[in-house]
Amino acid sequence: ALVVRHRMKSSGQWAKAIAILKELQEKCETPTGKLRQVVDAMTVEMHAGLASEGGSKLKMIISYVDNLPTGDEKGLFYALDLGGTNFRVLRVLLGGKEKHVIKQEFDEVSIPPHLMVGTSEALFDFIAAALAKFVATESEDVNLSSGRQRELGFTFSFPVRQSSIASGALVKWTKGFSIEDAVNLKTQKQLDKAVKHTGKLLPIRSVGQDVVGELSKALERVGLDMRVTALVNDTVGTLAGGRYSNPDVIAAVILGTGTNAAYVERAQAIPKWHGLLPKSGEMVINMEWGNFRSSHLPLTEYDQALDVESLNPGEQIFEKIISGMYLGEIVRRVLCRMAEEAAFFGDTVPPKLKIPFILRTPHMSAMHHDTSSDLKVVGSKLKDILEISNTSLKTRKVIVELCDIVATRGARLSAAGIIGILKKLGRDTVREGENQRSVIALDGGLFEHYKKFRDCMESTLNELLGEVSETVVVEHSNDGSGIGAALLAASHSQYLEIEES
Ligand code: GLC
Repeated sequence: ALVVRHRMKSSGQWAKAIAILKELQEKCETPTGKLRQVVDAMTVEMHAGLASEGGSKLKMIISYVDNLPTGDEKGLFYALDLGGTNFRVLRVLLGGKEKHVIKQEFDEVSIPPHLMVGTSEALFDFIAAALAKFVATESEDVNLSSGRQRELGFTFSFPVRQSSIASGALVKWTKGFSIEDAVNLKTQKQLDKAVKHTGKLLPIRSVGQDVVGELSKALERVGLDMRVTALVNDTVGTLAGGRYSNPDVIAAVILGTGTNAAYVERAQAIPKWHGLLPKSGEMVINMEWGNFRSSHLPLTEYDQALDVESLNPGEQIFEKIISGMYLGEIVRRVLCRMAEEAAFFGDTVPPKLKIPFILRTPHMSAMHHDTSSDLKVVGSKLKDILEISNTSLKTRKVIVELCDIVATRGARLSAAGIIGILKKLGRDTVREGENQRSVIALDGGLFEHYKKFRDCMESTLNELLGEVSETVVVEHSNDGSGIGAALLAASHSQYLEIEES
């Protein structure tokens, strides 16, 4: 048998690889002082975004949610959650204060690839058909409100400029979605690039469309009599879901494919809001913090290259150094440079390593958490995903270290973002005579499945909060956004006023 053996790295090559790693480490450093600068920059941008439309990179979108769930919500409601290759449909039977959620059912459907590059009608038709199928499984005992039109909360996890609680236009695509481009793509190559980057592509026609209008038309086409009574971002849904189970929840953060936060603001602290002052005096703000950017962010050459080659260059910079869509890709880029300049994987650069987005964050997480003495998980990931074999233990140790550097930076920066919100609300310091608890509802795959990321984020929060850390709690809100959207559909039901009068 022919055994191809890589030449051992020379000591010069090894030194070069280590130098690349050290340089990355320095550039990614986030000492407390730097994080405090990020916190301050975040609050400054929050003020600017609230002051005027377009006043900041932080859009600080007014959600039109001025009342969070109280527990009184009653009846049968649906929710639809769209923001990835899968979408979820949900049915909840709410029983009011005493009974809360009586029954909850859901279904997850993946979007067939041919629809991912089709037209918006085709996609929405598919979603509407799946929803109709789900509705058909509704049992009679569950339908307390028979005779009424069914109502739906629509979670759409992209920036939407809302014009009311149940309408809004898409501002832009994020998380690698590039639908407008998809439709206007001139060449197969551009399309391939888009699909490769995203692994998913939604054909909703373009930025500026009323998302509820599109969905409603499709519901009509499949003959489903259902009204969208709330259109919400996933952060807003999570905040609503979190508040339902815990009255101290004041903000929600998503750490998943993308990253974002929503929080409860005083209506009077929103100069750009010209509507009536809500009775509650409050308004939920969807920050779209993924688009945050500051000279204090520790950016590297790898981040710059990733951004330039991305589908949305110059945008979502905070998201690109924190969220699940990008962390694995950053690691891949560093490994590529090590392979090219330090023969890190032998004489040639492994071909698979050159493929953008081939190394996903879950792979990175698996390698980062490898506790075996010979790092066999790292070895098997390298082999299975990148077709690299025969690595030395020393090499694999460097890779674990690399994952740690990239994850740590993301986790610490996301903690800084959360402190930014607390600071804006004056909840980051101990106040005389006050003992208010601040609960942050967290959700998303990165938070849920990447333990070292989550642990690091939580310890950084404590580091930054000092003695206040006792009153600040992070709570995992498992799929709070689905339930939250259904709750908001309930509190904005068309039948509410009839009932109340
Ligand atoms: C992206 C979207 C944002 C969403 C977040 C988490 O940042 O722009 O709307 O909340 O991902 O899904």
